[in-house]
Amino acid sequence: MNKKLLKTLLGEKNKTPPIWLMRQAGRYLPEYRKTRKKAGSFLDLCYSPKLATEVTLQPLRRFDLDGAILFADILLIPNALGQHLEFLEGKGPLLKPIKNYEDYNKLKEFDKIHDILNPVYDAVSNIKANLDKNITFIGFAGSPWTVSTYMIEGQGSKDHIKTKTFMLQYPEVFDKLILKIEQATIEYLTKQIIAGVDVVKLFDSWAGSLPGYYLEKYSLNPMKNIAIEIKKRFPGIPVIIFPRGAGPMYENFSKVKEFNCIAIDSSIDVTWAKKKVQTNNIVQGNLDPVHLISGGKELVKQTKNILHKLSNSGHIFNLGHGISPNAKIENVEILIKTIKEKIN
Ligand code: CP3
Repeated sequence: MNKKLLKTLLGEKNKTPPIWLMRQAGRYLPEYRKTRKKAGSFLDLCYSPKLATEVTLQPLRRFDLDGAILFADILLIPNALGQHLEFLEGKGPLLKPIKNYEDYNKLKEFDKIHDILNPVYDAVSNIKANLDKNITFIGFAGSPWTVSTYMIEGQGSKDHIKTKTFMLQYPEVFDKLILKIEQATIEYLTKQIIAGVDVVKLFDSWAGSLPGYYLEKYSLNPMKNIAIEIKKRFPGIPVIIFPRGAGPMYENFSKVKEFNCIAIDSSIDVTWAKKKVQTNNIVQGNLDPVHLISGGKELVKQTKNILHKLSNSGHIFNLGHGISPNAKIENVEILIKTIKEKIN
């Protein structure tokens, strides 16, 4: 067993960093589009252990990656808590929004989520049984803050005004909601770990929407509470966090000892990250996903710059956000070759 990604998270040094890509299973792959069509809806794909296994493994068949990420979605938790969810073609997720205490009160208890989520745990066992032993298996969930934005807005949003207004006008209800997501996430990740994932990641895609003075309270602390409980239950399981858009506050996240790795977005300067984040923690990131569309010399140049600045210490190569549906397969191949060969 040579799980380079897992070993890097546990502190091992390597000549070249391990690599995986956020959203590595997805629409840029023709084989994904085919399976997606066969499944019917996106949720049917997430809740089919057989098809979820297939799409999780697809990028591993094509590319020399060090990690496999479970195919699921951060919005399965609201769905499992009883909130209506659908994914509209070309429009993204649609949920029945939580507008007040009454709506909140209709949600299920946090420990009742497994009825809906059992197929996900079956997918984990199935993937585990079919995964090369050298590949690290990553489980995940959304952060309570990011999940709450979808639950309250009822859809994707750029400014999250409804969520922040709710947070400020009904703080007691909002705190209850965050706590419920936190508790459900702990149970969800626990089951993923029991079924076989090696690492868990918390996606806080909308951390950057919170003003800096609320970031600790609503983004950092709930993720920290989850990490503390996961460590208590499974001391050897590393936790990666991705507070996208946290800017200079990334330094605060990097100092939390229960976090094993900090995923940085593309807005973060790597020289700054080396000084302020990597001195405290392992760093994952941070090539802009656009390079996998545009390719060419800049793809190689910026990849090498990240390697040069970050890879002499704890580093996992990744993008600064999810891969685009327009990414070109040949550019993914060039990226991986550049990293594995580390021609400096
Ligand atoms: O390969 C992987 O990374 C594993 C699977 C994965 C998906 N979503 C599959 C997916 C993971 C880790 C996610 C996380 C996720 N989901 C996040 C956090 C990461 C980020 O991108 O910021 C968020 C915010 C979501 C919620 C979500 N899911 C949205 C807003 C959308 C619609 C936007 C879009 O890209 O279409 C999804 C749909 C989704 N989740 C797709 C995939 C492959 C595309 C849907 C399709 O195939 O039709």
